[in-house]
Amino acid sequence: MILIDEPKIELYEGDCIEVMKSMPDNSVDCIITDPPYNVSKEGNKIQRNYEHYNWDRRSDIGLDFGEWDRCWETEEDFFDFTEFWFAECVRVLKESGWIYIFFGKQRTGIFDLLLSKKYGIKARTIYVWVKSNPVPSFRKVNWISGTEHIWVGSKGDSKLKNFLYQKDMNNYFISPNASAYKETEHPTEKPVKLIKHLITVNSNEGDTILDCFAGSGTTGKAAYELNRNCILIEKEPEYCEIIKNRMALCEPFLIR
Ligand SMILES: C[S@@+](CC[C@H](N)C(=O)[O-])C[C@H]1O[C@@H](n2cnc3c(N)ncnc32)[C@H](O)[C@@H]1O
Repeated sequence: MILIDEPKIELYEGDCIEVMKSMPDNSVDCIITDPPYNVSKEGNKIQRNYEHYNWDRRSDIGLDFGEWDRCWETEEDFFDFTEFWFAECVRVLKESGWIYIFFGKQRTGIFDLLLSKKYGIKARTIYVWVKSNPVPSFRKVNWISGTEHIWVGSKGDSKLKNFLYQKDMNNYFISPNASAYKETEHPTEKPVKLIKHLITVNSNEGDTILDCFAGSGTTGKAAYELNRNCILIEKEPEYCEIIKNRMALCEPFLIR
């Protein structure tokens, strides 16, 4: 029998570029992260009369996630920020490691066309989260936005660590949107089930996962439940409090 120590979950409260600078080269097995998409519009909320729509949600739709998602004056500033954290991720990722980045659909090209080549990362796929209950189209002028895209790359030509049954290895995952699974007040919380699937395929027990834009700590919770170590970095104190509450039962949980 192999005995695995309890997984270690660490939370760093601060700016991820600064925190990652203090981490050694080639020190994490896999990165799963969900950075700002730069899509928020200040104060933007859509109010709808839901009676007209066959949809199981009654709250307003927020299009403003917070200052953290709209603090760049220009698109160039946003791309510079993206490049700075991506470069640090590449440095701390082990030679055979894979990186998963949730990103706005219109902007995933920055990784395929620019950053992966510049930093020696191989583009592997775009993984798609298919939402089984997307927000309906109220104005009916465009396609319904029922997917979120995750850019996937690896250091070198490395294989996935755990190729499961063929049926589990499609590059999409179907699950409802946040209204069906939300555990916290974070505005962009992702499904634990999806993150657990990515962790299972890309790592083994005892490996270390990094999420440098931790939000509500979904990656930490998923890693803990799968016996993986996890390093979480989050700069907003109110979200760090959410993470601390969510991880309260995990031992050891270290706050840096
Ligand atoms: C899209 S959310 C992540 C949500 C997360 N996947 C979840 O399931 O809760 C991005 C997070 O990155 C944080 N953030 C933004 N800029 C940051 C930075 N420079 N360093 C660390 N965290 C940052 C934001 O405060 C926000 O909580």
